[in-house]
Amino acid sequence: MLERIKSLAEASADLLAEWRHDFHAHPELSFEEIETTARIRARLEEMGYSGMRVGAAGIPTGLVVDLNPEKTGPCFALRADIDALPMQELGNPPYKSQRNGVMHACGHDSHITMVLGAAKILKALESELPGRVRFIFQPSEESPHRSGAKAMIEEGVLEGVDAISGLHVWGTIPSGVIGVHAGPFMAAADEWECTIFGKGGHGAVPHLAADPIVAAGAVIGALQTIVSREIDPLETVVVTCGHMEAGSTFNIIPDRAFLQGTVRTFNPDVRSEMPRRMERICSGISQALGCRAEFHLKNVLPATVNDKAFTEEAAEVARKVLGPEKVIEIPPSMGAEDMSYYLQKVPGTFMFFGTKNEEKGIVNPQHHPEYDVDDEILPKGSALLAALAWNFLSGKAS
Ligand code: NI
Repeated sequence: MLERIKSLAEASADLLAEWRHDFHAHPELSFEEIETTARIRARLEEMGYSGMRVGAAGIPTGLVVDLNPEKTGPCFALRADIDALPMQELGNPPYKSQRNGVMHACGHDSHITMVLGAAKILKALESELPGRVRFIFQPSEESPHRSGAKAMIEEGVLEGVDAISGLHVWGTIPSGVIGVHAGPFMAAADEWECTIFGKGGHGAVPHLAADPIVAAGAVIGALQTIVSREIDPLETVVVTCGHMEAGSTFNIIPDRAFLQGTVRTFNPDVRSEMPRRMERICSGISQALGCRAEFHLKNVLPATVNDKAFTEEAAEVARKVLGPEKVIEIPPSMGAEDMSYYLQKVPGTFMFFGTKNEEKGIVNPQHHPEYDVDDEILPKGSALLAALAWNFLSGKAS
């Protein structure tokens, strides 16, 4: 079966490149992927799919379709995110973005294509599949505050699903190499804000003021002691202050300072303790310096945790489809992904698929204005996703 899957994938290589170029040329931002959704639908209809469910969060963007909807038995889901980024493409491929200021710089054009490729392969094997496959084309991955995954799950996209997989292309991994990791794989990402209220005054007479800038400086430094002094050194935590604002000119002490940043964690217990620890430092230090702090932390995305047994089996399938030398164990990433929401509900794995090809000059990381994907990976990724579905369904049915 794996040989049939591989040859079906290779036979579609040119078509897959054509599809990706079409998606690449017509990128759309989060929750605006209406034309993208129409293009996905058209490709699926050409393959003979019907019964598409379009829309998420009340917006006609994103699409879900089942292969073998009438069949009983296990159900395996494949997920692609479909949105692009608000940035100008500076490279010059023949399929360059036709929309000013919008670009598929995160490779989601290739995610769509590889899941469509898997849908095409599996359609040809439909009658032999011992179960259902659900293809999830998810809007809005790039806007974590309005997660498309969360919206689709709330609307029931995982109902009846037993396991799920997805890929993210990765610009620093060689083309065609898949990176796998069992267990916590991508971090939880939260957002914090702290406003420090002091007492404004003249820069020459600080004793008559309460300086929120000095308090902010002390707070920024002390927040780093959470990682170095309060958290078990074997845990992984990042506290970053990425934004600070205070004051207007050189000789005025302002009345407030504003700080904003992100916290990254893997362990849910450590994550849930962070607001209390940060609030204590922000308030305590501000108070010690004659100011007052208001602290808020907003949970944005949970950690992406790959099921151990599923991931080991997926790696075995990948070795058979791509070759044993093309499967590598990679360390976790402090980046975050809304694939996390699916993997909270059902077991599965999320993997990084390399796109770097120096001979072709494809060397940039994602979110780079000249990011591009090596088209050679498209049939390989499609074959891998189809093989994961086949492997899961036949394993469950036997
Ligand atoms: Ni992405």
